[in-house]
Amino acid sequence: MRILFAVALSLVGCGSEPAAPAPAPAPAQKVEAPAPAPAPAPAVNVVTDDGTVATVQLEGTDTMKYNTNRIVVPAGRKVKLVLTHTGKLPAATMGHNFVLLKAGSNGQAFAMKAVTAAANDYIPQDLAGQIIAHTKVIGGGESVTVEFDAPAAGEYPFLCTFPGHYAMMNGVFVVE
Ligand code: CO
Repeated sequence: MRILFAVALSLVGCGSEPAAPAPAPAPAQKVEAPAPAPAPAPAVNVVTDDGTVATVQLEGTDTMKYNTNRIVVPAGRKVKLVLTHTGKLPAATMGHNFVLLKAGSNGQAFAMKAVTAAANDYIPQDLAGQIIAHTKVIGGGESVTVEFDAPAAGEYPFLCTFPGHYAMMNGVFVVE
C-alpha cells in the first residue's frame, strides 16, 4: 500500500496540467506478499509392492476427492486395488468408484457417458471396451477391491464415474 500511495502522490506532484484523478489503488492483497498458490493434491504414495503384488490403498471422501491423483506401480505386477470410502454419505449422493481406462482414452468423455448409465452402476456399456478394470460404486464406510494385471508400461487415466465427480476425482495410473 505504501508504495502505491507514494507513486500516486508523485504523479500528482509532477503534472503541470491539472492532475487526472489517480487510478484507484490496487486492492491491498496485490501489494502484499503473494499468498501461496493453492497446492495441487499431493501425490501421496498409496502403493505397497511385495515384488509380486502391488497393493493400492485408494480412498474417496465426502468432499469428493481421492487421496491421490497419481498411482505408480511397477510393470509386471498383479494389482490389488482397495478403494475405501472414508466418508459417511451414502452411495446415492456421494458414490465413488475406480475406473481405469486404456491409454489414450478420454476420461471426461467417458464420465459424461457414464452419467447416462445409472442403471449399470455408472459403467457405460457401449464404452466398456475402454475399461481395463473397475470397481462398483460404494458409499461412506464401504470398501471394495478389484484385482487385475498391471497393463504395459505407460500412463492410464483413472476416474470416478459418479455424476459430477470427474473434475475432482481423476488421475493418472502409471506403470513403470
Ligand atoms: Co466419486
